[in-house]
Amino acid sequence: MKITSKQLRQKWLSFYESKGHVNIGAVSLIGDGSTGVMFNVAGMQPLMPYLLGKPHPAGKRLCNVQGCVRTVDIDSVGDASHFTFFEMMGNWSLGDYFKKEKTAWTFELLTKEFGLDKNKLCSTVFEGNESAPRDEETANLLKGLGILPEHIFFLPKSDNWWELEGTVGTPCGPDNEWFYPIDETQENPVFPDDYVEIGNDVYMQYRKTETGYEPLENKNVDTGFGLDRMLLFLNGLSDGYKTDLFLPVIEKLEEISGKNYDEDEAARKAMRIIADHTRTTVMLIGDKDGILPSNTGAGYILRRIMRRAIRYCRQLGVETSALNECATIFIDEVYGEAYPNLHEKKEYILSEIKNEADRFEATLAQGIKEFEKCVQGIDRKNAFMSQKDPSYVKETVIGGKQAFRLYDTYGFPLELTEELAAERGLSVDREGFDAAFKEHQEKSRAVQGGQFKGGLESHSEMATKYHTATHLLNAALKAVLSPDCNQKGSNITDERMRFDFNFERPMTKEEIQAVEDLVNEKIKEDIPVVYKEMSLDEARAEHFVGVFDSKYGDVVKTYSIGDFSKEMCGGPHVEHTGVLGHFKIVKEQSSSAGVRRIKAILE
Ligand code: ALA
Repeated sequence: MKITSKQLRQKWLSFYESKGHVNIGAVSLIGDGSTGVMFNVAGMQPLMPYLLGKPHPAGKRLCNVQGCVRTVDIDSVGDASHFTFFEMMGNWSLGDYFKKEKTAWTFELLTKEFGLDKNKLCSTVFEGNESAPRDEETANLLKGLGILPEHIFFLPKSDNWWELEGTVGTPCGPDNEWFYPIDETQENPVFPDDYVEIGNDVYMQYRKTETGYEPLENKNVDTGFGLDRMLLFLNGLSDGYKTDLFLPVIEKLEEISGKNYDEDEAARKAMRIIADHTRTTVMLIGDKDGILPSNTGAGYILRRIMRRAIRYCRQLGVETSALNECATIFIDEVYGEAYPNLHEKKEYILSEIKNEADRFEATLAQGIKEFEKCVQGIDRKNAFMSQKDPSYVKETVIGGKQAFRLYDTYGFPLELTEELAAERGLSVDREGFDAAFKEHQEKSRAVQGGQFKGGLESHSEMATKYHTATHLLNAALKAVLSPDCNQKGSNITDERMRFDFNFERPMTKEEIQAVEDLVNEKIKEDIPVVYKEMSLDEARAEHFVGVFDSKYGDVVKTYSIGDFSKEMCGGPHVEHTGVLGHFKIVKEQSSSAGVRRIKAILE
């Protein structure tokens, strides 16, 4: 190794510190919600208010190394250079220096510190459009520094303009991108085919509006260079999994599987996916605002990533405990020093990976059987139709409804079904899946809102509220009295609720108060009530409680209220707890031997 990941991080920071920048450290990988992006996708994301003009407490010159998670290219992971997690080395000028200094420093860093050949560097700048002028200024500065004029290219907005897609009110601007030959020893490399982008300097001097762009008061610089990428070519490598960030993990996978990374193409792809996805999993669970796999939002993306890794363990022919072995290496050998909270949360990270693997293993086997049935169905139909009509065009698409069933009942992310399908030369009807998904959502929303009048049961709005209140009460009793308290029955009218549960003695006044307070606290938190159908096994594995287990079929309906309450239940429920109002226990009495009864109202 010419340069290690640790040295590279250090070199970046000390170079910019020597130019008057303050290292502001990294923020959480989990998006703060300000842009609607779930994860931190760029070093500039947490700095947006400052790029828009707010003074930063650390001054006008900042730098850091920031972890980023981008999942748009998740399907490309498995090749040599796509990752779902990466570190961005960044530095910023907040209305301080601009193009002259920036071009000079990037040039100095690349040619002097990293020893790149200036005659091989290529650079692209913005060609201009109706929003912003052609960036002659940067081009001239680059020429002045010694970049060959024939290595400077003017490109359109699609290449040389940086903004957070799909956002409004965010800072943006033209950028200057830097490129170097993929293979330094190649004679006469041709741009862009033989080049790789190593980083960019964005001249953030605009703000994105609903209709276009308006100039910012400050002219800012936002620089981002990918550490993983730089590490690769500074070491003369062409495979991202051969750097010190991955090599020990790949070696471990070779050892466990007995397969050769260099020689076995299928094994190589599986090892890359397992390594990349495990790294992202470790970072997301171990983050200071760490998340866990779940069925919504960022948690669902994490679940998708984890389940894809688990599936590739099967493909590679290794147990899912391989994930924990990889995670341990990432924590102990690769990232622990730069990310100390990974050490602190090590046991937690490892046990959550195991939990998800266990949960998924249970449903995966069943789901694959179900998938095989879909494929057999298509095969049979094709065989039958072709016999009848030789010009029959064979079906090659798995229906959206079937894909949705795999998702809903067996926890198969759509991408997983697509991957399995692709292995059989089939595709999946994505639109049909989306439609089935939407239909399901609308149905459950209607049920939750108590508007589902078509069935036998019709629930008033008030009864629906009481129904959700029983879930909160059930969870509160477990929390305050004992986890062994279980619901023994309930009865709801529009005026009140009655709830029976096992407990040996009358509750004290304080206990009654504590339960009431806890329920009201959860109402105030206005937690969404989330509905999902899953297999009974999965519901059990995810610790959903049910009153009459034996009555449930294979597929159960579940409702969760944050992490506070998870019950198998037919509904209906309100959409979020805030609508319940104030919860009050009006009576606590004996119901039968060992069973207590609470009467409560919502006011
Ligand atoms: N914001 C720029 C990027 O993410 C630096 O590439």
